[in-house]
Amino acid sequence: MPTLPHRDLTRSNAQFRRAVKRLPLGVSSSFRYWGEDRTVYVARGKGGRVWDIDGNAYVDYRLGYGPAILGYADERVDEAARRGMEVGGVFALSTERELAVAERVAKMVPGVDLVRFSNSGTEAVMGALRLARAHTGRESYLLVEGGYHGLFDAAMWQADVEGWEAGSNSDPKIIPYGKGIPPTVKKLAHLVPMNDMQRLEDTFRKHGDSLAAMLIEPIQGNCCAISARADYVQLARKLCDDYGVMLIIDEVKTGFRVGKAGVQGLLGVTPDISTFAKAVGNGYPIALIGGREEVMRTFRHGGASHGGTYTAHSVSLAAAEECLRILDETPALETLAGHGERLKAGISAILDARGIVHSYSGHSSMFGLFFDAAPPDNYRAWKTSDYAFYDQMAYFLHDLGIIVEPDSREPWFMCEAHGLDEACLSDTLRAVEQAVDLTLDHLEAEAKKA
Ligand SMILES: Cc1ncc(COP(=O)(O)O)c(C=O)c1O
Repeated sequence: MPTLPHRDLTRSNAQFRRAVKRLPLGVSSSFRYWGEDRTVYVARGKGGRVWDIDGNAYVDYRLGYGPAILGYADERVDEAARRGMEVGGVFALSTERELAVAERVAKMVPGVDLVRFSNSGTEAVMGALRLARAHTGRESYLLVEGGYHGLFDAAMWQADVEGWEAGSNSDPKIIPYGKGIPPTVKKLAHLVPMNDMQRLEDTFRKHGDSLAAMLIEPIQGNCCAISARADYVQLARKLCDDYGVMLIIDEVKTGFRVGKAGVQGLLGVTPDISTFAKAVGNGYPIALIGGREEVMRTFRHGGASHGGTYTAHSVSLAAAEECLRILDETPALETLAGHGERLKAGISAILDARGIVHSYSGHSSMFGLFFDAAPPDNYRAWKTSDYAFYDQMAYFLHDLGIIVEPDSREPWFMCEAHGLDEACLSDTLRAVEQAVDLTLDHLEAEAKKA
């Protein structure tokens, strides 16, 4: 019988009680709140690990939701950022490094001719949608259920799969992510389930002439790494061409992670516009809008507006230059995907030994774990998978020194440092084995109670 792990969070708990008086939920993003007695405050991160203010060490597979592609406090990138600091910040003028980074991006991603910088994924996708609207002169747009594209109103509509009756003939309701999002905006948003070719064709037939853009995250980085089939994205490309719609591939999570040319490179589909963020600067705030020349030139006076006081900040830009150099010129991406492969094999050996059916979605560099024979191929199918096992296991993993998202919809992210530190693998697998056994015991005890 495995023993319940004890994790001392005395200082984090005390910090929470103080912080909640000044910060809503005691945090700076609502997703960082894990309950009054389990919200973690980080002291520092290094490589693939973080330490909380109580001194607990964790192997981290959230990596700040993906940005730390090389690992925390990477000396090469931090050194470059310090050089960026010498430049002096932002000037409301341009610096030479913008071109150097844009050249690197265009070299790595064949679908990108021109680049504009932003500070966050939200800003980049917001700019991309505006660009698509400016270029087409249309307002509506198409989203894929389960996709997430940031915190601006147009992107904050989702399929209510949690409140939907699985297998019913009706579609899930379209609901906002929260309060404060004007319902009038909803009129412009259409949603389709991933990988349903017929629905995609029907939707284009019905609305194609009024769509400015189709926005798709072909590996859904906020929905279990559910993946689009190549033929689905190819059909989307064709329909966008047929109806004059801009195909926006949102690579905020997949970009410079699943491959040098992102998920579009893996699928062999060239979008009109792409957005990148997380991995670009190994955690320094920088994002990109990239695309085909004719479309990108719509960013001009009298065309689509774009800018921002902090855009192309000298520190982030220098970090991006070095981070992208490393990703382009060294085997970093193979190293981190290799860790993902070994981790999946190790987890499978543990689960197989206990007869637990499971599968993986996504890419070895960012994968979802399912307790089902095959991963769901769209968000609706997630509803029928056994995520109760996952959620409980994640809870125990935190106590055992492994950080994964408490919600099964967030994939596990790999970084180069995980692959370079052999102990990350053994520490993780030891904890997974214990967490699986604790979960089995817990669920058995719950079943007896019921
Ligand atoms: C695919 C995708 N697009 C956009 C965003 C928004 O990025 P940010 O949080 O940097 O604003 C995210 C964030 O997780 C994302 O995963």
